[in-house]
Amino acid sequence: MIITIDGPAGTGKSTVAKLLAQKLHFSYFDTGAMYRSCTYALIENQIDIDDKDKVLDFLTNHFQYEIKEKNLEKYYFVNSEDVTDIIRSSYVTDLVSIVSAKEYVRKTLVPIQRKFAEDRDIICEGRDMGTVVFPNAAIKIYLTAKISVRAERRFKDFIAKNPQDIATLDKNIILKDIQKRDELDSTRKVSPLRKAKGAYHIDTSNLTIDGVVKKIIKRIKKLKKIKFAYRLVRAVSSFVLKTFYRFKVYGKENIIKGAAIVTSNHVSFFDPSAITVAIDEELHFLARDSLFKIPIFKYIIKALNTHPISGKEANIQTIKEVKSILKTGKKIVIFPEGTRSTDGTINKLLPGVGFLISLSKCTTIPVYIYGAHEVWPRGKKFPKLFGKIACIFGKPIRYEQFENINRNERIPQIINKIENELKNLEKWANNGFKGAQP
Ligand code: DC
Repeated sequence: MIITIDGPAGTGKSTVAKLLAQKLHFSYFDTGAMYRSCTYALIENQIDIDDKDKVLDFLTNHFQYEIKEKNLEKYYFVNSEDVTDIIRSSYVTDLVSIVSAKEYVRKTLVPIQRKFAEDRDIICEGRDMGTVVFPNAAIKIYLTAKISVRAERRFKDFIAKNPQDIATLDKNIILKDIQKRDELDSTRKVSPLRKAKGAYHIDTSNLTIDGVVKKIIKRIKKLKKIKFAYRLVRAVSSFVLKTFYRFKVYGKENIIKGAAIVTSNHVSFFDPSAITVAIDEELHFLARDSLFKIPIFKYIIKALNTHPISGKEANIQTIKEVKSILKTGKKIVIFPEGTRSTDGTINKLLPGVGFLISLSKCTTIPVYIYGAHEVWPRGKKFPKLFGKIACIFGKPIRYEQFENINRNERIPQIINKIENELKNLEKWANNGFKGAQP
């Protein structure tokens, strides 16, 4: 799960992120330190920051960034040099806002940041974490504070580290410096400092660090609370599947944390229940709008957060809904064949799911449902009383692999990839679940 914390300098982001990470047992990633390290390395290697080619060459081929941890403190290394202290010096601070405003710098560092956070429980702190780098983060926080308070905090931080400078340090200069950085960070063209949509805004001016962390933890608990109707349907489904159908889940390690589109084959009314039991979090589903007319069943699918989808193509309303669900870090389950297969085999997938994945740029988790067709096939009013049902999760399909493919070819390639993965999982299940799972 990714939690993002954004906000201007001096709002307490780093201290809050560190304490929150300790309390939740998450990792913590200060992306400001990364931009500072990059700025330091460019200065040290005398690279003209306006020379795009030279900067790109340096960052791609000669910039090795490492983060090490000792006694809960982070240490930053550039090409094996410990830069933890030097990146906080005034000559780096003076230049970092200009370096980090360069589109070509961000283009190189953002993919490294995404890779670093992949499949981790992590708190990412910076300026554009919730807006650009992790738009699908589970929880987004935006911290602000009055400028006078921020200047006072910076002053105290500096004096704590350099008590000998107390007589010469001017609070007004610190305040002006913060103002200048705010201006640069929030007016730049690329990834300006902004509150992400849906982010939880906390003004920290009159709060202690503990107070801010408490507020965030309360918010997380509220967002993670699974609603009663969902828990009830899941408990009943779990009882039925495990008692009568020897329900089993394979490839659970492939269920990544946070937002994802789960794509499943569709053979039976049991499918949504099986996925609900297999994944330990509150899911959302997309389903044909006609299913909302079936008595009793409509109450079950409503309890399972099912959103109606009308035509064969994903319409604008559906796209909006899917995007906003993913933005809250939740998973959405789609049956890309559009309807239940009549013979239990995997039918051709509809292009709609390809559009949704392409527009949301989201990771996909393929899941093959085994045995539900034998137990309750399409056309039968009631299920058989015994049998075996299993969910097999395949390896996550990252969106990045399709990013550079032109739009016309991208959708068919996404669809092909999912279809192949589902068929590989089907083959493995039909061969008796033997050998390494695809
Ligand atoms: O948080 P900080 O003061 O250490 O950040 C240093 C600079 O890096 C700051 O001027 C803004 C920039 N930055 C950024 O542009 N994007 C981020 N995600 C993090 C920091």
